[in-house]
Amino acid sequence: MATLLDGKMMAQEIEDSLKLRVEALKEKGVEVGLTVILVGEDPASQTYVGNKEKACARLGIRSNTLRMPADTTQEKLEAAIMEANADEKVHGILVQLPLPRHLDEAKALSLIIPEKDVDGFHDVNTGRLCRGQDCVVACTPKGALYMLKQAGIPLEGKEAVVVGRSNIVGKPMALLLLQENATVTVCHSRTKDLAEHTRRADILVAAIGKPRFITADMVKEGAAVVDVGINRVDGKLCGDVDFEPVSQKASYITPVPGGVGKMTIAMLMDNTVAAAEKKVQG
Ligand code: GUN
Repeated sequence: MATLLDGKMMAQEIEDSLKLRVEALKEKGVEVGLTVILVGEDPASQTYVGNKEKACARLGIRSNTLRMPADTTQEKLEAAIMEANADEKVHGILVQLPLPRHLDEAKALSLIIPEKDVDGFHDVNTGRLCRGQDCVVACTPKGALYMLKQAGIPLEGKEAVVVGRSNIVGKPMALLLLQENATVTVCHSRTKDLAEHTRRADILVAAIGKPRFITADMVKEGAAVVDVGINRVDGKLCGDVDFEPVSQKASYITPVPGGVGKMTIAMLMDNTVAAAEKKVQG
């Protein structure tokens, strides 16, 4: 039976230490500020943004959510980003994805000044991550790696398999694991014989977006399984991993809910506080 990697508990510990850092900044006269730009009414995005607002409130971070209608023009979106860039009180800017299809996501993200890019999606931050340089790291992969390290799971020389190649999770996750000296394979929808790859994994990261896609026969005995999926099935949340059978075989596993999702928010808060600290330090 696998040991549970408890995202709720780990995120709470991170929040406890962030509270102290937010306090220390307040004593220097700096109130940490995060601006979130939400375009349209996608229900999942609304939930995520609500969770971000609640986390800011718990930590004493000033949050400002700009809700823009689904038919917002590229010009209006860009103007909102430029305004937040220029605002001294804003330390972090996040554009909630996905954007409606008529908007140019890459262009919008490239306008956020890299120092305020708390999602780590700007070309400068992704490029620096690729080179192994100091940068803002995307929240979900950063949180997933934190869980593995916190549990003391060895990564160096291990076989890590990431299923999913998104810019938000799969690609940065693979780069982070490479940085930790794992041997990394990235699989995706066109991979031939996926199970042959996943069965070799000491560390298996599932970021596919399909409920219970990773079944027990695809998992190596004793593997550490990180489930990044958040799917809704019959009104209930479930991950990309078939949790019960896989947890019989794995040595470590993250639950959904209460796993990586909680860490994503904690890491967003960490990136935001770090952006404010860097600005203060100059
Ligand atoms: N949509 C799904 N995940 C994310 C995320 O981590 N950041 C943003 N901005 N949008 C998302």
